[in-house]
Amino acid sequence: MGETIKPHGGTLINRLVLGKERDELLAKAESLYQLKINTWAISDLDLIGVGAFSPLTGFMNEADYRSVVESMRLADGTVWSIPITLGVENGAAESINVGQQVALVGEQDGVIYGIIDVQSIYAVDQENEAVKVFKTDDTAHPGVQKLYTKPSTYVGGPVLVLNRPKPEKFEDYYFDPAETRRIFSDKGWRTVVGFQTRNPVHRAHEYIQKSAMEIVDALFLNPLVGETKSDDISADVRMRSYLVLLENYYPKDRVFLGVFPAAMRYAGPREAIFHAMVRKNYGCTHFIVGRDHAGVGDYYGTYEAQEIFGNFTQEELGITPLFFEHSFFCTKCGNMASSKTCPHSKEDHLHLSGTKVRALLRDGECPPPQFTRPEVAEVLIEGMKEAEYQA
Ligand code: ADX
Repeated sequence: MGETIKPHGGTLINRLVLGKERDELLAKAESLYQLKINTWAISDLDLIGVGAFSPLTGFMNEADYRSVVESMRLADGTVWSIPITLGVENGAAESINVGQQVALVGEQDGVIYGIIDVQSIYAVDQENEAVKVFKTDDTAHPGVQKLYTKPSTYVGGPVLVLNRPKPEKFEDYYFDPAETRRIFSDKGWRTVVGFQTRNPVHRAHEYIQKSAMEIVDALFLNPLVGETKSDDISADVRMRSYLVLLENYYPKDRVFLGVFPAAMRYAGPREAIFHAMVRKNYGCTHFIVGRDHAGVGDYYGTYEAQEIFGNFTQEELGITPLFFEHSFFCTKCGNMASSKTCPHSKEDHLHLSGTKVRALLRDGECPPPQFTRPEVAEVLIEGMKEAEYQA
């Protein structure tokens, strides 16, 4: 058995309550104040519960929130770059007091997902949060847009998880950090590189994954399947595309596919740090950060999500980031490359914009195989047709 990397903060958090204790708490929760929470908050709650967000034991209280926003650290100094917060409408905030327990109830299904021990109730300056976390307060930025729909009063405190959101599809690919850690260890993998994606795996993604695989024991392909912006390809279609890709082009004994059921923040550099810390909790020793990681539009510099790692020591991070240059297919080299390995000019590099690729797929045409594997393209074309049919 391989040894696993320490979780962020040293201990894998577990806030799941089971058995008799759960029954008792569920009964108790019925009589508590019922705070309605949306899908995003349910996902955060669940990820806190299973330790994916270790060392967080709950939604951030005021001290941690302010410290994270201003200095990318929790109040105790631990590296943490993204606020994990629970917004409450004014009406609800007036009914909640510090020291009180509150039931967290799904706004759509009425399910009691958990309980929070309220430690702080605080009003925030969301413009400041936007500028610090997203580096912009432009409401065209999807992360900022989302932030501004959230109430500007937050409640913080430790949580207990009583019910878990049910995956609609691909249930077999949901693993908690304790499970992935055990699986990696059982497989004897001492080094595992985590790969975050919200896209199909195109050849550039494959190239950087496989370059990383040359120096570690295994790849944890960990696509984000929580909320994404509406023009990103659906998680369902992406999952089908990952499966055909792995089936045809990856060694089965050196790749593990499991989803990351978190919402996408589009916070670029800060999200790269967050993504790395979370993948450490899942048991990864290495994490890939390529071009414009978790970026959107032109808000971040191409390599800003790599540069931000320079603010922290390797000891503080624990996980080793692996940085990759923008990669592409070079027609003169006849292979995938980057400016680190290819001497040719831009004209020799195959470049397709996202818009162009989408247009091709919509017309039922496969992008060149140097850009996307044909098996993947077929799944994406099929996905486009389904989306049109449903629209
Ligand atoms: S992300 O929002 O999840 O980062 P995406 O799924 O496109 O978006 O990227 C997944 C990972 O691959 C990120 O680390 C990103 O930086 C990297 N990446 C994507 N395209 C390229 C490319 N052409 N060259 C190098 N790295 C890339």
